[in-house]
Parts: sequence; C-alpha cells; structure tokens
Amino acid sequence: MSNQPLFEIKDLEVSYGSIAAIKGISMEVHKGEIVTILGANGAGKTTCMRTISQLLKAKSGSIRFKNAELTGLPAHKIVGLGISHSPEGRRVFGILTVEENLLLGAYSCKSVDRKVLEWVYDLFPRLKERRKQLSGTLSGGEQQMLAIGRALMSKPEMLLLDEPSLGIAPILVKAIFKQIRAIADNGVTVLLVEQNAKAALKLADRGYVLEVGKIATSGTSEELLSSEKVQEAYLGKKH
Ligand SMILES: Nc1ncnc2c1ncn2[C@@H]1O[C@H](COP(=O)(O)OP(=O)(O)OP(=O)(O)O)[C@@H](O)[C@H]1O
Ligand SMILES: [Mg+2]
Repeated sequence: MSNQPLFEIKDLEVSYGSIAAIKGISMEVHKGEIVTILGANGAGKTTCMRTISQLLKAKSGSIRFKNAELTGLPAHKIVGLGISHSPEGRRVFGILTVEENLLLGAYSCKSVDRKVLEWVYDLFPRLKERRKQLSGTLSGGEQQMLAIGRALMSKPEMLLLDEPSLGIAPILVKAIFKQIRAIADNGVTVLLVEQNAKAALKLADRGYVLEVGKIATSGTSEELLSSEKVQEAYLGKKH
C-alpha cells in the first residue's frame, strides 16, 4: 500500500433539498485495494457512489482521484478520468443485446478494445454465450454480470459497484464475487457498496460502515468481521 491514496473523500456532505443524506464522511482507497462500504437501507451508500460519479453534487467537501478534484466536474468527465460505475439496480438497456450493451460501455474510448471485450467474456462466459440475446430477457444475475462487464469496457482504474448481490441467489453471488476478486487482481481498484456484509467483508481488504450518513466504524475486513458491533448489526450474531 503506497502512502498516497489513489482516491480520497474528505468531509463530504450531500443533501437532497433540506434533507442531509451524507453528513461529513471521509475515506480513502489505495491502488489495488477492494474497499467496501456497508450499511443498512437508507444509510447513504448509493448517494455516496452517485456523488463520486458526479451524478449528484456535493454540498461541501472534497473527492479526489489521482490528485484531481472531482467535485464540480460534469459526470461524463469522470469515466474519462478512469472511474467507472456499475449502478444499483443494474440499469442495462433491455432492448439492446448483451454485446451492444457492452460496446456502449466503451463510449468514452476512441475505439472498442477487443481485448477488453474478450476479457469480459472470459470473466463471464455466460455473457459470451448470450451475446446476441436481448438484455431485458437475461436473468437478474446475468444482468448483474452485464452491468459489471459494461463498466469494465471503459478500462477503468477504479470500479464503483453498487450492490452487485442485490436480489441474486447465494450461489451466483459467490460466482460474481469471485470474479470481482479476479478484476481486482488484474489491477482494477474496487469500491464495493453492499448490504451483504458477510460476503463483502470476505472479499474486501477494508471496509467502512455507514450509518445514517456518517461513518460509524471502519477497519480491515478481519477487524470488522470480529467487531461485536458489526456482528450484531450486520452479521446477525447475538452476544
Ligand atoms: N432523490 C432523492 N430525494 C430525496 N431523498 C433521497 C433521494 N434519494 C435518496 N434519498 C434519501 O437519502 C437517504 C440515503 O439514500 P441512499 O439511496 O443513498 O441509501 P442506500 O444506503 O443506498 O440504501 P439502500 O441500501 O436501500 O440502497 C435515504 O434516506 C433516502 O430516502
Ligand atoms: Mg443503495
């Protein structure tokens, strides 16, 4: 881990009108890490991800990636800087085929890198088998693979994943998380939002726990897995 973080949030505040959703959070992500943001419904996880991508604007605070300030930039510049976002609820284009969706993910690049497409197909062979199928007819798990694959097509240095396990059977969650590890091993830094705390902490190097817009606790995955507070609130264990 180098001293200078690849990505850093400082004192971030985000509001919807008069309602504060993020109330002054700070975090950092180092190159090569998988960092997870855990939290219950409404904690502010998606708000945080959308603010990083500049789909929402911060009220105050700073978001820096490779020493560049992201707040205030238009959303389309963020992909160009090397951050790609697989949104909550997948949002694949249902009337386009699997391959058309993947090619759209490379819209910010001058041309499609066939090697990246092949890499995505290696990671998720199911997508290759179904490359001509309309995305709207894929299963939920397959659509999640497609959303992750599409986000990889812009060759990001950092990948934002918002709840990749949402509504997916445990066996498929395992398979998808295994491939997230493979993506990170390939040099892509990962910021992973999850409600599935156990699976996320098994995968991630470190984590932050968000509670109603504030960071309640943070640490290495081992620290969080063994923390009584985390066990009680997120892992369903009683002491
Ligand atoms: N467009 C919006 N307008 C007003 N309030 C919003 C809006 N979007 C989110 N919120 C509120 O902001 C808070 C944080 O929401 P957010 O979607 O970031 O939570 P989350 O941690 O991603 O939850 P979940 O696990 O359910 O996806 C919630 O109280 C939510 O009601
Ligand atoms: Mg959310």
